[in-house]
Amino acid sequence: MENIINVKHPLLVNLVTKLRDINTNSYDFRKYLSEVGRILLIEALRDEELQEKEIQIWIGKYRFPSLNEQKYVFIPILRAGLPMLDGVLEMIPLARSGFLAIKRNEETLESVLYYDRVPPLEGKTAVLLDPMVATGGSLDYAISVVKKKNPDRIISLNVIGAPEGLKRISDKHPDVKVFIAQIDERLNDRGYIIPGIGDAGDRAFNTE
Ligand code: PRP
Ligand code: URA
Repeated sequence: MENIINVKHPLLVNLVTKLRDINTNSYDFRKYLSEVGRILLIEALRDEELQEKEIQIWIGKYRFPSLNEQKYVFIPILRAGLPMLDGVLEMIPLARSGFLAIKRNEETLESVLYYDRVPPLEGKTAVLLDPMVATGGSLDYAISVVKKKNPDRIISLNVIGAPEGLKRISDKHPDVKVFIAQIDERLNDRGYIIPGIGDAGDRAFNTE
């Protein structure tokens, strides 16, 4: 699973532990998801190329390295991916955003696409955002939708994954780099990650 990068940092582990805690309320839950998204993005773009740009500073015009922020399109998978958008946009405010609503049928575990509002992706780096990779069905679906829009590159930022789901993504989409904060033990018989964080969408938006 060479394309699956388990990002290791004590601050990231600490945030995931707070997400796991059932006493974390939905406001804090969203805030921690946002922070995890921001840290994962920093790691994902560690080797990113910068371009020289002329800017005016206090002693005249100088050239400095700069990121082409408009190259990035952030795509949260609704609902649970939405809080991660705030964190990544703090780092790259000129990026575009697109939205995919994908819901897993909790009986069959099949993913259904309800809404695709992703802008054209030619020449762009598409960054998918979703806290959970359980069976991998939702991420697999999202990647397939995004691939049809021909981006230069696809990156996925995820918080917790099960080995089964990550293997599925690795086998089917070896060209997509997945940056993930924690790889947990397994799935239970209802397709939930163990130990996991429960239902991320419900926890983020106070539903059950
Ligand atoms: C959750 C999560 C992922 C998906 C993971 O979303 O945010 O998108 O489940 O499960 P999978 O890997 O087995 O597909 P859910 O379908 O519960 O929708 P929600 O975010 O609207 O609650
Ligand atoms: N979706 C979630 O939100 N959590 C899981 O553990 C599995 C799917």
